[in-house]
Amino acid sequence: MSVVTILVVYMTLIAFLIWVCVLADPNSDTLGGRLNVLLTEEIPTRITFNLRRRLPSKVFDALAKAYDYIVRQRNPILQCLYLLLFLGSFATYLYEGWGRIPLGDLALSVALVLACLASFVVACSVPAGTISPSTWERYDNYKPDNVIYVAGRVCPTCDVVKLARSKHCRLCGVCQSRFDHHCGWLNQCVGEVNYRHFLFFLALHSCTFLYGSSRLWGILRREMIKNKLWDATFYSPSSGQTVGSSPLVVCQYLVVHEGAVCGVLALAFVMAIVLAGFLLYHLWLAGQNTTTNETFKWAEVRLKVKIERSQARRAHEASGGALPLRRIADPVNSYNISLYENLMEVLFPRSERRAQNSTGRKAVSRVATESEKLSTEAREKIE
Ligand SMILES: *[C@@H]1O[C@H](CO)[C@@H](O)[C@H](O)[C@H]1NC(C)=O
Ligand SMILES: *[C@@H]1O[C@H](CO)[C@@H](O)[C@H](O)[C@H]1NC(C)=O
Ligand SMILES: *[C@@H]1O[C@H](CO)[C@@H](O)[C@H](O)[C@H]1NC(C)=O
Repeated sequence: MSVVTILVVYMTLIAFLIWVCVLADPNSDTLGGRLNVLLTEEIPTRITFNLRRRLPSKVFDALAKAYDYIVRQRNPILQCLYLLLFLGSFATYLYEGWGRIPLGDLALSVALVLACLASFVVACSVPAGTISPSTWERYDNYKPDNVIYVAGRVCPTCDVVKLARSKHCRLCGVCQSRFDHHCGWLNQCVGEVNYRHFLFFLALHSCTFLYGSSRLWGILRREMIKNKLWDATFYSPSSGQTVGSSPLVVCQYLVVHEGAVCGVLALAFVMAIVLAGFLLYHLWLAGQNTTTNETFKWAEVRLKVKIERSQARRAHEASGGALPLRRIADPVNSYNISLYENLMEVLFPRSERRAQNSTGRKAVSRVATESEKLSTEAREKIE
């Protein structure tokens, strides 16, 4: 099998596994749903069962503890993996590109990479908006919509009244304002305050990866032109035959002779596409003023409405039309204002506008008291 075939099979398999494990619904009676249950529940349970029986209990406990740390606790493993992959790829890029990518382009690449690292640090260090008794009021900016958020619930762990759009994160152990999701790569939650930093992180990285891929592609293109690969005949030492040029053969030649460039190019290009897709998805969410977690909640609400509608229709039909058909309205996202306002809310979170308003009000009241003082002084002078 050629390298390209192996790569294609490998990529397809990975995409399929991601689809089965992440996107397929385990409650549905489809092939994807059943495979999801098999891969994410049955096989892990069986492995655990066998390990517990065969391993000394000390070793098993240590393994269980390690698994718990990796999966159920905040940990910097993915952050380290990001730095390793990112800096490793960049070092390879510099090494391979030195002398082959124009200096100006290399300088721009360095600037982009530094900006990416800065955006990573910011996205990792600005908290999502932690709700505690002392910050509760600052984050109290959303009214319960009585569809996906009901008033008056209390978070049993944090012992605060749950604010609409907030959610308790089990990994962080706190309630987060306008909770979107817990991001393992940033090792913290993405929520009201740091959502814009998260979006900026995605945008900057996809641009940087796209730019890097275009420079690496330039290297390969020049290599193809210099060696006249499209007019060459190739000799395969394994089969002892010569073959004419074709896209497949040229790819194989490049993978063998420019392995590092091809590897970093493939990684950067795939990441650019994945992150750009992710960014577009999040911009779409932000445009409708909803969050990743709320999309799950809305899916549940829509399913409930669908069931109620079919029950109403069945009741109507069973009565032979005597019972009027009960109308059930579509649930509406009451946080959705307008596209512009929704995006503004992400760029300038409500809790910060409120903080600015209160400092503004303080400044205004200070000006007011000063002018009062001046006017009383003036009055005293006149008197
Ligand atoms: C998001 O919301 C769903 C449905 O309300 C909930 O079951 C799930 O645990 C939430 N996801 C996260 C990551 O907290
Ligand atoms: C959000 O609001 C806008 C303007 O009011 C409306 O056009 C749009 O359909 C709404 N979107 C959703 C998903 O409710
Ligand atoms: C801030 O103040 C402006 C005008 O004074 C007001 O329109 C706005 O609603 C306030 N915002 C918040 C979040 O309180």
